[in-house]
Formats: sequence, C-alpha cells, structure tokens
Amino acid sequence: MTRPNGFATRAIHHAYDPQDHEGALTPPLHLTSTFAFETAEAGGEMFAGERAGHIYSRISNPTCDLLEQRIATLEGAEAGLALASGMGAVTAVLWTLLSPGDEVIVDKTLYGCTFAFMRHGLAKWGVTITHVDMSDLDNLRQAVTSKTRVVYFETPANPNMRLVDIAAAAGIAHAAGAQLVVDNTYSTPYLTRPIELGADIVLHSATKYLGGHGDVVAGLVAGRAEQIAEIRLVGMKDMTGAVMAPFNAMLILRGLKTLNLRMDRHCASARVVADYLAAHPAVRTVHFPGLKSFPQYDVAERQMDQPGAMIAFEVDGGLPGGIALMNGLQMIQRAVSLGDAETLIQHPASMTHSTYTPEERAEHGISDGLIRLSVGLEEVEDILADLEQALPAPVQHAAE
Ligand SMILES: Cc1ncc(COP(=O)(O)O)c(C=O)c1O
Repeated sequence: MTRPNGFATRAIHHAYDPQDHEGALTPPLHLTSTFAFETAEAGGEMFAGERAGHIYSRISNPTCDLLEQRIATLEGAEAGLALASGMGAVTAVLWTLLSPGDEVIVDKTLYGCTFAFMRHGLAKWGVTITHVDMSDLDNLRQAVTSKTRVVYFETPANPNMRLVDIAAAAGIAHAAGAQLVVDNTYSTPYLTRPIELGADIVLHSATKYLGGHGDVVAGLVAGRAEQIAEIRLVGMKDMTGAVMAPFNAMLILRGLKTLNLRMDRHCASARVVADYLAAHPAVRTVHFPGLKSFPQYDVAERQMDQPGAMIAFEVDGGLPGGIALMNGLQMIQRAVSLGDAETLIQHPASMTHSTYTPEERAEHGISDGLIRLSVGLEEVEDILADLEQALPAPVQHAAE
C-alpha cells in the first residue's frame, strides 16, 4: 500500500496530471459557459444523468471541478462544490436540506449575513430557527426536537471566537435524526476537519484563508457525494444560481497551494499578538483559542491543530476606545473580511454584525466594544508596533 500524500502535496497536485493537458503545469482555465455535445443523443443522455460530462457552467465546469476535488480531499470528504460566495454556499446548502415546517438549530453567534438569512430569510418560508449557546452542549441536547433537520454552527464563531465541540455536537444531532453543518471558514481544513469529527457537511467562505489574497469572493462546500450532487442540482443550479466563475476557481486553486504555509505564519503571528494584547494594561479582554485563559482552551486543543489567527478583544473605554484605536492605526487596515495577507481590523457591531439589532447583539454575546483583528502575514514586529503606537500609553504614576 502506498502512503497517502500529505496535506500540502494534495493541495498542490490532487486530481491533476499535466500530461493530460499538453504538459501544462498550471491547470487550464475553462472560460466557457456551455459545452458542445458530440451527438444529440449524447446530450440527452447527459441531461438524463446516464452519461458523465459537462453540460452548462451553472451546473459544472472543469476548472471548478478540479477545485471541488481539491476541497474534498483536504476536508476528507467524498465530494466538493464550488459556489459564488460563502453566502452562496450557506444558502444553497440550507435551501436544499430544509422544507417548510422543519427546524434548524443554530449557535447563538453567527456571521451577520448568515444570521440575517436565517432570521429574516428562511424564517419567512416556514422554517423555525432556534438559537442556542452551543458552547454548552446541554443547551443543544435540550433544544433538539423531532422537527430538527439541521444543526448549524461556526467554530470558531465570527466574531466572538466561541468554539463548539464538533464531535459531541455531531453525536447529539445524529441521535435526533438531524444533520450537522459546520462553517469552517475561520479554521480552514489545515487546522480542523469537521467531517472527520462527524459533521455531514462543511462549508466555507473561500473569500478568506482559502483564497488568501483578498482578490476574490467565493464559497465551497464538502460532504457525501450523493448529498453534494443534490445541493449542486437544487440549491446551486435552481434555487440560488450562485455558481463560481471559472476564473475565481483558478484563484482559489492558486491560494490552496500555499494554504499550509500561510496558516503556519498567520497562526504563529497571532499567538504573539494575542499574548501582547493580553498583557497590555489598556486591553480589557482578549478572546483567542490559543490563550490558556480562553474558557474553551480544552476544546481548541482537541479539535484545532493550531488556534487560528483571528482575535477578538475589547479595550478600555468600550466603543469610543475601540474606535480611537482603529483610527490611530497606520499599517493595519480598517476593513471587513479576514484571512488576507494584510492585517485587518473591524468593529462587528457597526460593520459585519450590524444585521443584528442592538438587542439581538446583546442577547447573542456581541458587545458594542468588541474589535475583531485578522492577523496578516506582515512582520509580526510591525503589527505589534502599529498596535503599540495606537493603544493608549500605560498611565505613569508619580512614585514610579
Ligand atoms: C464565518 C463566515 N461565513 C460565511 C461568510 C460569508 O462569506 P462571503 O462573504 O464569501 O459570502 C463570512 C463572511 O465574512 C464569514 O465570516
């Protein structure tokens, strides 16, 4: 038996042989909307699902197909699906799995547009959305009912970094006859592989670490082959049309080749930045799974190979204090999104999570003073220096 290739090797080589493509080292970009059938009968057979092949790029495309195979191998899944955005992935999956009368149980903390889709979108179509704090899984155990079809969460959650124990949540969901869907955007498959821990479907905003360069909006899904085929034909082809452009697939394929290197660097720098913030007298709280003081440090140790590179924190002075910090930064960019080479800082309450009402934010654990930092790939000394000059200087006492 040959040894299976490691993560980086699969991210670079999986499912592609240059010799099948005139020796082209880089996979070709198939810029085509439609595909010619050899005969009318062959076309009919493809439509009937009796013959393999590409029909139209809202269903499949060879460049997207390669990316789908790559995300599947990296997530340890049977199949993958490429979509126009992370929200395209979220909506295509849930439109496929849910029907009126069903219930979806979601974590209390969700990315703002996912929250809005559930709360203001799905709910309009007769789906019950139940929010529970899944950092304590007894809440999930008590909440599941015979109508629960899907259990859904992000881990770490955007923006407050709360974790959910994937293996334990999978056990509870499956015992109730529900499927577990995990948004793995913050961790990437390099750090956490939810399917190996029991999840049914994993999804991503590939806009973030998978693309890695801030130049593309994209989404990916991975899971069982039969279910991915259904999401492709129902959620993607018919219900959202949220198909990934082949050019964007090429950018994500390029990003994946350096995912492990970038993540190692992101994570190493984030540890240094988190330690610095935790020791700073003007910083009140730091939420980072790599800190021993993090309440779910044990969950991070179990299911994350490294603690990631997202940090949430609060400075003295609440919101005005946070805004003063953000406006004082010189190199770190004030921008939403995450996982780019550039270190990015944003204020969830007024930006990514403004889709929650103030009452909802209070109820869902997103405080007004919370600041989110995506630690980039610059020299960590320069990230620290920028934070240092923007944070208030420690008060000097006369006796010192
Ligand atoms: C955790 C998470 N999931 C999903 C999304 C949506 O992804 P996209 O912006 O690619 O649609 C985001 C975007 O920030 C996110 O942070």
